[in-house]
Amino acid sequence: MYTTALPTARDRKLTPEHEEIVKATLPAVGANIATIAQTFYRTMFGNHPELLANTFNRGNQKSGEQQKALAASVATFATMLVDPNAPDPVDLLARIGHKHVSLGITEDQYQIVYENLFSAIAEVLGADVVTEEVAAAWSEVYWIMADVLITFEKKLYASDGVENGDVFRDVAVVDKQELTDTVTTYTLEGDLTEARPGQYTSIGVVLADGARQLRQYSIIGQEPGRYTIAVETEGEVSTHLREKVQVGD
Ligand code: HEM
Repeated sequence: MYTTALPTARDRKLTPEHEEIVKATLPAVGANIATIAQTFYRTMFGNHPELLANTFNRGNQKSGEQQKALAASVATFATMLVDPNAPDPVDLLARIGHKHVSLGITEDQYQIVYENLFSAIAEVLGADVVTEEVAAAWSEVYWIMADVLITFEKKLYASDGVENGDVFRDVAVVDKQELTDTVTTYTLEGDLTEARPGQYTSIGVVLADGARQLRQYSIIGQEPGRYTIAVETEGEVSTHLREKVQVGD
C-alpha cells in the first residue's frame, strides 16, 4: 500500500485556551509516560482481551520501551502543536499509519484507544491535575492526531483498492527453505497485491491457545500473486512457522 500524500499536521492548531493548558501539563505527562503507557495497556487489554490476543503483538508487551511508543507519540504530537519550532513529526505519523494498515486497524478502534488512554492519564496524574479543562485540551490533541492518522490510513487502504481494514488474505505455502539454523524463507501464494520495494507484510498465525498473532516480515521477492518472505526464528510466531507450517499449508 502506498500513497504520495504525507500525513503532515503542521497546519493543525489547538484552540488558544487548550494550547496553554497542553503547554502547562506537557511536562507532567512526559515525566509519567512509562506509567501512563503501562496503565493504558493493562486497562485496555482488561476491557478488550481480543485486542491483545488478535491485534497487538503480545511479545512487545513484555518490553517497557515498546509499550511507551503509542503514548509517547501523542506527547511528541502535542509538542509539535504547542511549539512552532518543534519538527513536523511527518515521518513518525507515516510509520504509524503504515504499521496500522498492515494490521487492518479501523477508524472505530480509535474510540477504544481514546477511552482507555484517557482513563490511564487520569488514573496516573490524578483528578487534581486532570481537571475537566485539562482532559478537554488533551482530548483535542488526541483527536487531531487521530484524524491525521485515520485520513492517511484511509488513503493507504484506497491505494490498494481494499475496504478499510480488509487486509488479510488466505495464502498457501508453495515453498519453504531453511537457509540457516535461524533463517527460513517462505513463498506464499494468494490474492496478493503488488508490493513496492522495501515493503513488509503482516503474517497472522493462530497459535495453540487460539490467539491470532501478527508479525511483520520483509518481502524479499515477488511474482504476481506470490510473496517470498525471510523469517528469523526469534519468537512465538516465527517458531510456530518454522516448526508447524509446511509446503501445502
Ligand atoms: C491516535 C491514536 C494512536 C496513536 C498515536 C498510535 C500510535 C502508535 C505507535 C507510535 C505505534 C508504533 C509504530 C511503530 O512500529 O513504529 C503503533 C503501533 C500499533 N498500534 Fe497504534 N496508535 C493509535 C491508535 C491505534 C488504534 C486505534 C489501534 C487499534 C486498536 C492501534 C493498534 C496498534 C498496534 C496493534 C500497533 C503495533 C504494535 C504492537 O503490536 O505492539 N493503534 N501505534
